[in-house]
Amino acid sequence: MNFKNKNVLITGASRGIGKATAIAFAEKGASVGINYRSNTEEAEKTLVELTGEEHRLFQYDVSKKEDTKALVEDFVAHYGQLDVLVNNAGISIFHKIDEVDFDHWTNAWEDTFKTNLFAVSNMCYWGAKAMMKTGGGNIVNISSRGAFRGEPTKPAYGASKAALNAMSQSLAKALAPHKIYIGVVAPGFTETEMAAVTLTPAERENLLRESPFKRMAQPKEVAHAVLFLASEGAAYSSGTIIDVNGASYLRS
Ligand SMILES: NC(=O)c1ccc[n+]([C@@H]2O[C@H](COP(=O)([O-])OP(=O)(O)OC[C@H]3O[C@@H](n4cnc5c(N)ncnc54)[C@H](OP(=O)(O)O)[C@@H]3O)[C@@H](O)[C@H]2O)c1
Repeated sequence: MNFKNKNVLITGASRGIGKATAIAFAEKGASVGINYRSNTEEAEKTLVELTGEEHRLFQYDVSKKEDTKALVEDFVAHYGQLDVLVNNAGISIFHKIDEVDFDHWTNAWEDTFKTNLFAVSNMCYWGAKAMMKTGGGNIVNISSRGAFRGEPTKPAYGASKAALNAMSQSLAKALAPHKIYIGVVAPGFTETEMAAVTLTPAERENLLRESPFKRMAQPKEVAHAVLFLASEGAAYSSGTIIDVNGASYLRS
């Protein structure tokens, strides 16, 4: 796969899966825009790890709808056009129904949907508008295994990712005439900060037993699927959801 002369914007790319994806695109020749929300120190560390010179940081909070417009405008003003958009930024909040009060419950649903679904739909809107002006592009949205198998301790997370899948497939149909192709990657547990903070040692032990690989995914294994869906030969795979979960949850 070759991304030479391609301009790639990745949300939530200062660490974890987004960072591994930024590194992988840069290794294949792309110019990468690293979006992050707050941790500038971490984002700057990521920037210097990328191969090549044409990469840049974009600090915007994609859960704010005005920031999604400003982010895409800023990116296009700098690079001239947007070829690949990866909607990776996501959050995960515990809200076990038999443990939390109603305020916690409603806040968890609202905050989760703002980042995991509305931010993605808004980024798809502005990203697609930019791509329509230049003849097309690729969008890859990061979902989760939780969309399919349920998330009992964070149901809003599972629901937001299931909605992201449905939205992505609807947009794959709507945007194909514009030569804009949309893919989804649904990782299982992956060795990132999100997984580290959300797992108790007992849960970690359990989940290692779930996969016949007896390990979690590495961020670069998720990045590999993202690059495939963003590559030129993958146009006819638009609307696809690729599982990267080590055969821990096999759906028919
Ligand atoms: N890790 C897993 O086990 C796993 C499994 C399945 C799916 N996923 C999905 O994969 C994606 C990445 O997960 P991860 O584990 O790599 O996450 P992570 O390590 O927690 O990193 C999250 C990244 O998103 C950024 N971010 C969060 N909210 C943002 C916002 N509103 N605007 C802009 N940037 C924002 C963070 O930047 P700041 O630090 O500056 O806030 C950070 O760069 C998520 O969509 C997640 O749901 C992860």
